Amino acid sequence: MNQNIRIAITPGDGIGPEVVSEAVHCLEALRDKYHLPLEWIRFPWPSHAWHEKHGESMPPDALAQLQRFDAILLGALGDPGPAYDNARYLLPDSVSLAPLLQIRKHFDQWVCERPARLLPGAHQYLADVRARNVDMLVIRENSEGEYVGQGGRLRQGTPDEIATQVEIFTYRASERIIRYAFEQARNRAQQRQASGQPRTFHGQSGSESTSQVCLVTKRNALRHWGDLYTEVFAAVARDYPDVALHHELVDAACMKFVQCPWAFDVVVASNLQGDILTDLAAILSGGMGVAPSCNLNPDNLELPSMFEPTHGSAPDIAGQGLADPTAMLLTTARMLEWLSQKTPQLGVAAEALFNAVTADLADYSGQQRDTHSIGHSVRERLR
Ligand code: NAD
Ligand code: IPM
Ligand code: MN
Repeated sequence: MNQNIRIAITPGDGIGPEVVSEAVHCLEALRDKYHLPLEWIRFPWPSHAWHEKHGESMPPDALAQLQRFDAILLGALGDPGPAYDNARYLLPDSVSLAPLLQIRKHFDQWVCERPARLLPGAHQYLADVRARNVDMLVIRENSEGEYVGQGGRLRQGTPDEIATQVEIFTYRASERIIRYAFEQARNRAQQRQASGQPRTFHGQSGSESTSQVCLVTKRNALRHWGDLYTEVFAAVARDYPDVALHHELVDAACMKFVQCPWAFDVVVASNLQGDILTDLAAILSGGMGVAPSCNLNPDNLELPSMFEPTHGSAPDIAGQGLADPTAMLLTTARMLEWLSQKTPQLGVAAEALFNAVTADLADYSGQQRDTHSIGHSVRERLR
């Protein structure tokens, strides 16, 4: 008899609860259909509302509570809107978003996976017909770098003020994220091969490969970690002679994401640069409403990984039923896939949800639908 898989549902702020509610309906449908050993508890924190009531975004033992779960499904954090309501309780973003960063660090969710694939039916922002073939996976370093939160303000409020924001890059974290990217490149090539749709990339020597990893840095200006990443990349690459190697400076990477995004396969980037690149990549895949994401700890399945879309709380559309839940639903499918490492039965549900979401997207291509209509339509396909 399987022990139940336990999910902590943290809807958060703004459109978070709106899209999470559609995900929960789909989980219910999947649990009933496939008799899944799945249970979940919904938490009112971390959230803006909890802070307004308690003076903090989550209870002091929040991380200890979350540790008892197999995964965390998070909507979004940040200003809940509505944007026109100036009288609402306001918090600095650094306060609202602190729990997100705390959770990622506490459970050592060192991988952030952000696929950007233009699925049939999703909006194609770029006019070039080749943009239909966008299919990349951005691997964002999620444990350190620009996000270590070290530094401070000296002589605050005076003309002599100094603000420091320290960036830390360790060999250990650089090596593991770059190696993870190469592993994903290999997996993707194998999957493409199996489905009879191989892709070809050209390595630095002109040789042909079936996958590619592109390292992104700003090594021309940020030389210390840029050199470390470059050296680690070269060392790890020796274990993957089948994978084509590429490097872009982050400014040029932004340019090429627009100019020729179909040329990328796996992209590996630092925490901040990966964050910025993945909002751009989200648009290449059809918009913020369809861009999934997850924060993984591949070393320890006993600690919860966290699944949340790339988008935020979208205060400009919150409360209006306008949010597209597709990103949240694809993220939920990825969560089930991840959890199938513990309970293989969940793999079937992951695939069913992914297929239902993509079929729905394709069938309603270009049609404006509200949050609930999309969620309802996907749920019906699952029955
Ligand atoms: P955002 O992602 O919330 O919104 C950017 C734009 O995309 C907005 O125009 C919004 O309406 C649109 N959008 C986002 N999700 C959508 C969806 N599902 N369907 C349709 N349209 C969608 O980014 P922002 O406006 O820069 O930030 C708003 C707040 O969210 C801030 O407080 C920010 O710090 C926070 N944020 C939180 C997370 C998170 O919780 N993971 C991520 C990003 C931003
Ligand atoms: C994201 C978000 C967060 C990040 C913010 C809200 C702290 O932008 O998940 O992409 O920068 O990681
Ligand atoms: Mn972001």
